[in-house]
Amino acid sequence: MRLEQFDLWARAELDAVESALDAWVPADAPAGLGEAMRYGVLDGGKRLRPLLVLAGAQAVAGEREAALRAACAVELIHAYSLVHDDMPCMDNDVLRRGKPTVHVRFGEAQAMLAGDAMQALAFEVLTPDEGVEPALQARLCALLARAAGHAGMAGGQAIDLASIGKPLDEQALRDMHHRKTGALLRSSVLMGAACGRTGEATWQALAEYGDALGLAFQVVDDILDVTQASETLGKTAGKDLDANKPTYVTVLGLDAARRHADELRRRAQAALERSGLADPSALAILADKVVERDN
Ligand code: IPE
Ligand code: IPE
Ligand code: MG
Ligand code: MG
Ligand code: MG
Repeated sequence: MRLEQFDLWARAELDAVESALDAWVPADAPAGLGEAMRYGVLDGGKRLRPLLVLAGAQAVAGEREAALRAACAVELIHAYSLVHDDMPCMDNDVLRRGKPTVHVRFGEAQAMLAGDAMQALAFEVLTPDEGVEPALQARLCALLARAAGHAGMAGGQAIDLASIGKPLDEQALRDMHHRKTGALLRSSVLMGAACGRTGEATWQALAEYGDALGLAFQVVDDILDVTQASETLGKTAGKDLDANKPTYVTVLGLDAARRHADELRRRAQAALERSGLADPSALAILADKVVERDN
């Protein structure tokens, strides 16, 4: 797939994801909960995780219904993690995806509940009465649960908060980033791959691609925090420094952090090259976009 084809493909896939999320995130959840959920999920975000699921599925000719559900499920988990990440008890942020954060708009209790409900909805979306084989449903749920929970995102977020003001070494920082951000990105690729058939070597290569890309993503997030303006980011710039958080920029310095992101991109591409997949080009382009993005 060339870049122009990728752009067309991505636009069509993003439309499909947007329509599905619009249909699945309920407007009628009680007492304003639906409004808060829809505000946190719809109309915003780069939707990188859904694209990774769908690119992974495309590379293995995976089942469409399962892949679309997995794409939406991982975005629901991600959106929930952002709602909670922004709350005053965590990063205390007021701007997200170019809008006031969910707790600013709806109050803290509603933001907490909206996040809770998004997390549960992700697993509901993965377990329809028909259209996806039960064994595949279970596999997708396991991949997503492990990435979202104590060993993945939630565990990484706990380390993040416990590290404020502490000089982490590079290994500890890498471990935190792998968990808090890398795990969900890795699981996105693997959920896509799980929708089709892959041999052990291909699966392993895709896991390595997901690991490298996932870490690169958070290294770049740390860089953008100090190099971009809030208007470009759609979230408050300079937050990590303000909060005294260890990041790839504070630990390695800006130039070395950039070189590291590039090195991780190369590792991701190398993993694709040994994957044995006939056409992993959409995944390769996504790795470039992760490192070259400005928001
Ligand atoms: C931001 O993720 C939070 C991190 C995990 C670093 P994204 O940069 O993917 O945020 P959206 O989805 O585009 O808003
Ligand atoms: C967030 O990391 C990771 C999550 C699990 C949400 P950050 O706290 O760096 O994300 P931003 O910069 O607020 O998007
Ligand atoms: Mg945070
Ligand atoms: Mg944050
Ligand atoms: Mg950040």
